[in-house]
Amino acid sequence: MFKVVALLAEFMADSNGQSVKANVLVCLREYGQDIYRFLQQYGWLETSLKPQLVGDLLAVPFNSSRAESHVLNEVRSSFDFEITIDCIELEKSEDSVNPHARLSRTVEEWLSSYQDLKVRSLLSNLPKKWELLGDLVLLPETAFESDAWGEFFERLSQFETLQFWQEVAQSLGGERLGRQHQIAKDKLRTSRTELLLGQSGWVEFLDHGIHFGFDTTKVMFSSGNVTERRRIGHIDMQGEVVVDAYAGVGYYTLQMAIRSKAKHVHACEINPDSIAGLMWACKANNIQQNITIHEGDNQLSLPQLYNQADRCHMGLLPSSEAVWNHAVRCLKPSGGWLHIHMNVHKDDIEQWQESTLQTLEKYALEISREWTLTATHLERVKWFSPHVWHVVLDVKCREVDATLVV
Ligand SMILES: C[S@@+](CC[C@H](N)C(=O)[O-])C[C@H]1O[C@@H](n2cnc3c(N)ncnc32)[C@H](O)[C@@H]1O
Repeated sequence: MFKVVALLAEFMADSNGQSVKANVLVCLREYGQDIYRFLQQYGWLETSLKPQLVGDLLAVPFNSSRAESHVLNEVRSSFDFEITIDCIELEKSEDSVNPHARLSRTVEEWLSSYQDLKVRSLLSNLPKKWELLGDLVLLPETAFESDAWGEFFERLSQFETLQFWQEVAQSLGGERLGRQHQIAKDKLRTSRTELLLGQSGWVEFLDHGIHFGFDTTKVMFSSGNVTERRRIGHIDMQGEVVVDAYAGVGYYTLQMAIRSKAKHVHACEINPDSIAGLMWACKANNIQQNITIHEGDNQLSLPQLYNQADRCHMGLLPSSEAVWNHAVRCLKPSGGWLHIHMNVHKDDIEQWQESTLQTLEKYALEISREWTLTATHLERVKWFSPHVWHVVLDVKCREVDATLVV
């Protein structure tokens, strides 16, 4: 701990005046990305300031939307490595490249004519994260939603409201604006995005060089899974037949067909709006011949794919367990790979991994597959909620080599 304090003191002495005092979480540099992502996900990252490397440590600034002790407790209970809290001088990020600063300036100008409003509290209540899909900015459901914001919007005419939304969208680099509402807990994972500015919620954009298109008011897209999409796209699947049990608009289907070079991907999907996006993307990426879309409930489509696949991907949260048995049966008798998505409490991960392997083994034995099952990797994709990880377990199913059995 002395080392941390000494290094930070050294940095403060070097700073050049273009800096502001801020609360920071300090950890070893190699864990910096985990802390950064954690703070970002909860809207606690202070984006107007630059994180600072100090020797082999990284100081990541956080904002005051939560008490310091609360942030520290959440972060400490989520990670095993050492994290300290400090207050140091950090350099400001440049306004021109900092959309938070642009948003703040835009809103401040609007509020300047309403001195009777609680302007300061409104300014400290601006959205801290959003997604930019094509030219559409997707705000989180709490953005501009408090009673105080309601009071502000009551003062605006319809035209002024549109103008306000237009300036907010532009400050965040977009032309249209939507506000997310909780994704429906129905089977279709329906999006409940409300369009604040613009005529249509249809977006088209590139992700890892792949074209995606869908209607944001009808289907969900989680850009938080970006690292997992990259990881799956890096797996070599040349020559493989793959089943994607929950294809959506093709988040993983397209990665596997294009970047991983799978020979063929069978994409199961129940939501017609997602299928519309997936069909658009198959055409836009010129990959129609490598993807077959199986429309409808995968409980009905997966049995049509038994014994055909080298790999089965199951991307449904909170749990994909409903298709594990089918997935085992979809693999060729010689075995293959399973990628299982699940939300798991951080303390239960090891135990979940073990019990999952046992369940899969049982399903395999039921169809006389004497495979060796190995969990080759467990990816922690992102925090789903405090203490709960969205994980993906990679399982290799291999035929027991008959020549080795005495
Ligand atoms: C969370 S999205 C997953 C999309 C993508 N795999 C991802 O992780 O981003 C789940 C998708 O599975 C689809 N789905 C849910 N239940 C299904 C079922 N029984 N049969 C086929 N598709 C289903 C939903 O419509 C939705 O598009």
